[in-house]
Amino acid sequence: MEFYKKIYFKLRPLILPIDKILEYIPPRATILDIGCGKGLLTKHIKNFEYYTGVDLAANPREADNNIKFVKDDCLTYLNNDLSNYNTFLVIDLIHHIPVKQQLIFLKTLINSLKSGDILIIKDINPRNLILKFWNSFHDFVMSRQIIRYLDFNKFEKNIEDKIKILDHFHSRILLYDHYFLVLKKS
Ligand SMILES: C[S@@+](CC[C@H](N)C(=O)[O-])C[C@H]1O[C@@H](n2cnc3c(N)ncnc32)[C@H](O)[C@@H]1O
Repeated sequence: MEFYKKIYFKLRPLILPIDKILEYIPPRATILDIGCGKGLLTKHIKNFEYYTGVDLAANPREADNNIKFVKDDCLTYLNNDLSNYNTFLVIDLIHHIPVKQQLIFLKTLINSLKSGDILIIKDINPRNLILKFWNSFHDFVMSRQIIRYLDFNKFEKNIEDKIKILDHFHSRILLYDHYFLVLKKS
């Protein structure tokens, strides 16, 4: 494993509450991780049947047994048949995509799900200005992007009639104000 990736895999779990994500992944899940980055979650999820990670920066050569990586744009990828997956992860992707595409991406994804599918969204949703400033600064340093956070309260009201909200909560680690939304298609 390349040096930078090794460091990333060690440091990211210090600020990302991975356990909260794992709680909602069913056993023998068939997982589509959109905006998967370096595929960190493959090191933490146990007992999944197969996993596909999609990311603009994915490296398809890092495939391994039941793990596959696809280099693609999140919105374009939704044109594929997603029926082979039952668990969809969108972890810290939304604030990296252009504001105009955020809702389009999420709504298209929700429309593509079949009954019983689980969608776990984790994003940063700072409730106070200092945390918002810190999180934006962090993302600027890490990705050289000026990011914009989606208003998840508004989003939830928008989707209430399309999908069941199983859970939604904040979990703060240090200066990182994480927001979780767990959805199940009925
Ligand atoms: C903060 S990282 C999160 C990575 C991973 N989900 C994790 O939690 O470790 C955000 C990722 O979104 C990816 N990304 C940004 N815009 C994207 C897009 N339009 N389509 C696919 N991936 C995108 C970036 O390449 C980056 O790897």
